[in-house]
Amino acid sequence: MTDKEANLPPLDQADHEAHQDNEDTAWAVRVEPLGRTFDAPTSLTLLEAAGFAQLRLPKMCRNGTCRTCMCKLASGSVSYTIEWPGLTREEKAEGWILPCVAVAQSDLVIEVPDATDI
Ligand code: FES
Repeated sequence: MTDKEANLPPLDQADHEAHQDNEDTAWAVRVEPLGRTFDAPTSLTLLEAAGFAQLRLPKMCRNGTCRTCMCKLASGSVSYTIEWPGLTREEKAEGWILPCVAVAQSDLVIEVPDATDI
């Protein structure tokens, strides 16, 4: 019996599926009172995602310290890219967020009176 095929390594199904769990989740963010909605992937801050959607939110430092971007989170939840965003515990409890260092963790509604289309 001449069986060269018997020495071929078996196909590994895991090799084909290894890269399929790196997909980026995107949440829908509605900006009031403008009424615009944009997609916010978890790889971007809300400020960055708004910019890609041609939406201008107030900003200066973009690192969570100046509080220029501070706005109210009407619904949903966010995480932060830095350990101590410039908000007091009371402000966080009242629903204030800093979009320049906030990442959507669910669909959101944020109140940004000064938001404009670019
Ligand atoms: S732009 Fe300064 S805290 Fe967000």
